[in-house]
Amino acid sequence: MTPKRDFKKNPSTKFKDVDDLGKQEAKDEIDALREGIEFHDHKYYVENDPVISDSVYDRLFHRLQELEEAFPEYRSENSPTRRVGAEPLDELNRVEHTAPMLSLHAALEQEAFDEFHESVRQQAKNDTVHYVLEPKFDGVSVEIIYEEGHFKEGSTRGDGHHGEDISRNLRTIGAVPLTLQEPERFPPFLAVRGEVFLPREGFQATNRERVERGDKPYANPRNATGGILRRLESKIVARYPLDVFFYDILKIQGQEFDTHWDELRQLREWGLKIDPHMARASSKKDVAAYHERLGAERDDLPYEIDGIVIKVDDKALWEQLGTRHRSPRWALAWKFASREEITTLEEVVVQVGRTGKLTPVALLQPVDVGGVTVSRATLHNEGEARRKDVRPGDRVRIARAGDVIPEVVERVPQPGKERAEAFRMPRKCPVCGTEIVREGAYHVCPNGLRCQPQLIGRIFHYGSRSAMDIEGLGEETARDLVEKGLVTDLADLYALSVDDLLQLEGVAEKTAKNLHEAIQETKRPRLDRFLYALGIRHVGERVATILAQEFQSLDRLRKAGLDDLKRMPDVGPEIARSVHTFFEEAENVRVLKRMQRLGVDVQDMPEAPKRQPLQGKRFVFTGSLEGYTRSEAEQAVERLGGRATSSVSGETDYVVAGEEPGSKLDDAKTEGIEILDERQFEELLSR
Ligand code: IVH
Repeated sequence: MTPKRDFKKNPSTKFKDVDDLGKQEAKDEIDALREGIEFHDHKYYVENDPVISDSVYDRLFHRLQELEEAFPEYRSENSPTRRVGAEPLDELNRVEHTAPMLSLHAALEQEAFDEFHESVRQQAKNDTVHYVLEPKFDGVSVEIIYEEGHFKEGSTRGDGHHGEDISRNLRTIGAVPLTLQEPERFPPFLAVRGEVFLPREGFQATNRERVERGDKPYANPRNATGGILRRLESKIVARYPLDVFFYDILKIQGQEFDTHWDELRQLREWGLKIDPHMARASSKKDVAAYHERLGAERDDLPYEIDGIVIKVDDKALWEQLGTRHRSPRWALAWKFASREEITTLEEVVVQVGRTGKLTPVALLQPVDVGGVTVSRATLHNEGEARRKDVRPGDRVRIARAGDVIPEVVERVPQPGKERAEAFRMPRKCPVCGTEIVREGAYHVCPNGLRCQPQLIGRIFHYGSRSAMDIEGLGEETARDLVEKGLVTDLADLYALSVDDLLQLEGVAEKTAKNLHEAIQETKRPRLDRFLYALGIRHVGERVATILAQEFQSLDRLRKAGLDDLKRMPDVGPEIARSVHTFFEEAENVRVLKRMQRLGVDVQDMPEAPKRQPLQGKRFVFTGSLEGYTRSEAEQAVERLGGRATSSVSGETDYVVAGEEPGSKLDDAKTEGIEILDERQFEELLSR
């Protein structure tokens, strides 16, 4: 008999060939894998404390997929492999909730809480009331049913009595357990309530993508979550980083709790994610302090909350207090000040960003939105500005979500009021007057080297660490150089004297000399770095290296035809076109010539060695090396035919560990991959 496998602490990923497995053996391994993967999902998504590396996890996951493929009779809806989503549905089914999903009575002011507190005290016939305090999550409320510890069904709140069956979508959320932890102790039936939400970062990324595609951005994370959760294709839902917090038991069999706090504790034991901010209080003062503390922390949390929820702790008292029509008398939502306000739009201006992107911006009559004065709000792009159709003089609703740039949500109609002209994107760049071009949903000023905001961005990029690495040429200095007219293109950098630099804000003799020297020292750049530093659209470090290795000299690259560029592996047509256009553009030709006259001599790439001693070898770097920056080390490997990748996998040949290595070193050890220190790495390079 094969010993029972445990995939929890230190899982072995050596597996038997699938063809050699008997049925029972396969079933046992599948069960063990599912339990192990669920355990690691819990560690990762709920506790935020993973105990195995991504690559080991991936291998467990793939093994399970492989076994389910080979033994379809053991497939299950509740297998972790189903988290990647299933085939689209035609529609969502309506389901009845286990118990009514009530809503909360909401208060905005301290007085409303005082009243609530008084009425609870009277009913309880007790001066002291114990409360549980919770954040009020700004997401979508769901019911999830577990039968015998297994996920059975999940639904939206709907009208409180009936909701929509979104089981498949909920299964894709890593923090939603498919099987509860502590299998010995879970109840035969459990219906829990929680809030699904899209963390701030995921919300911003989702909206960025939507705007780029020309779709309407979601007004807030709650709408975004609602929209995603009701999608019919769970494979798409699986792509969003949805998360969840549980906060209530709707119904349970075989167990009773005296307090809400005990309920929460038990939910956590079962692996259901509970927000760590949950707290207890027994006085008005403590409740008010919690409201204030969370209100202050609000912007720093990775998810949106819009108030606190105050719940009576004693469950016997819940019974006694009862419910109103739709909300219980034992709980209260005490909201924070709104982050939406209405104000007057004064003007729409167009802002040019560092990359040349044009953004319509609404200038507003300043208004206090949740403690921050807002006088500008973004309209994203022309499509959005048109859709919202806001014009000077209009009343508009403004929203601010955490650290996101305030946004114009919508126009507040004022019937009968005469309105100004509709907004139109200018045909010419408002900064430099160049004819604007269209790129997808955006308008872009193509005058990259001369248009002021773009020039500032470019100069800053040129001097940045992985480009020319000019110490002291930060964003502020770049701005000052451009605004004082000292630099009108990249070539001007090399014409700057120490006296010129002394004109900069807060720059004294020593700094000026150092900066001057730092610039002059970059006069013999290597081709790959120089190409990257030029900031050609779509040419990042990797593409710059590929181009430099292929063409070896700036001259050869400049003369390359579009077809030569397109023929290169790893260089798509878009990149090829961008490089070609860059070197054709008259202004760029002029600037490059001038750089040359000022002494900039771009070094040819060393001839790629004929023999590629590291051909096909994959490297992963972790920690910092003394003699190389990360990108230098990667280039060294690539010059010899090797490849640098970012994570350890079964295909990795070497892991190079410098000072303070990260978890990749552990991965390498687990996987038995050869580990090199810096000296051994250098030896390998010079061999
Ligand atoms: S308890 C009967 N706790 O706020 C009590 N709700 O109407 C049921 N919400 O629809 C709700 N955070 O979606 C509770 N910690 C929390 C909550 C919370 C957010 C939502 C819930 C509800 C809405 C209020």
